[in-house]
Amino acid sequence: MVMTVAIDGPAAAGKSTIAKEVAKRLGYVYIDTGAMYRCVTLLALKKGIDPKDEKAVETLIPEIQIDMKPNHVIFLNGEDVSEAIRTREVADNVSYVASYKKIRLFLVEIQRKLAQNVSIVMDGRDIGTYVLPNANVKIFQIATVETRAQRRYKENLEKGISCSLEDIKEELEKRDYIDSHRSFAPLSKAEDAIEIDTSFMTINEVVSEVIRIVHNKMENING
Ligand code: CDP
Repeated sequence: MVMTVAIDGPAAAGKSTIAKEVAKRLGYVYIDTGAMYRCVTLLALKKGIDPKDEKAVETLIPEIQIDMKPNHVIFLNGEDVSEAIRTREVADNVSYVASYKKIRLFLVEIQRKLAQNVSIVMDGRDIGTYVLPNANVKIFQIATVETRAQRRYKENLEKGISCSLEDIKEELEKRDYIDSHRSFAPLSKAEDAIEIDTSFMTINEVVSEVIRIVHNKMENING
């Protein structure tokens, strides 16, 4: 049976950590849609295009070739950008780029194709509401902004990216605000999504809970 699992939620709620592990344990393909918006933002910055200039960013569409490799390596126009898309500069600008309708339509088409005929776990902001409204399982993963900032801070330090906790908190709040207030496919919880507050849960607990929900759903489908 082909299963689709959508995981949405605010910035740094741990969606990709959970989605990757759930996909690994279930043998599904993991698709990181945030990485795609980050790729477009990186390309704009590299070309000296102002990410706040919608028309200029849109001109990049014919030049965008994104390849997501199975081991979570991301190629943009033939170059491994897995680390380059995680910088502070990209994080600071990605929500502007992600608010442009033409950019979203272009990436959503790729996302829907990737989800065809194969079991997937896809994480993002609009997966359950817009990209895959018929997903078998919809999770809305949240955590307090303090917890999310702490997690991203730790993650950055481990990667050798220097940063301050206060700055990260500010960045997450700014992105969440723009992501939830844009007019096209904003960050929001689908009516039929199950909310999981991960503030006081371990990674393993969240993964087990999502897998339990997926198995329940499969049993329901199979009758
Ligand atoms: O990992 P983190 O939560 O920091 O962010 P991400 O998932 O890499 O997403 C980066 C940004 O891309 C978000 O803040 C949104 O602006 C945008 N995004 C979106 O608009 N729609 C998606 N489906 C995924 C990401």
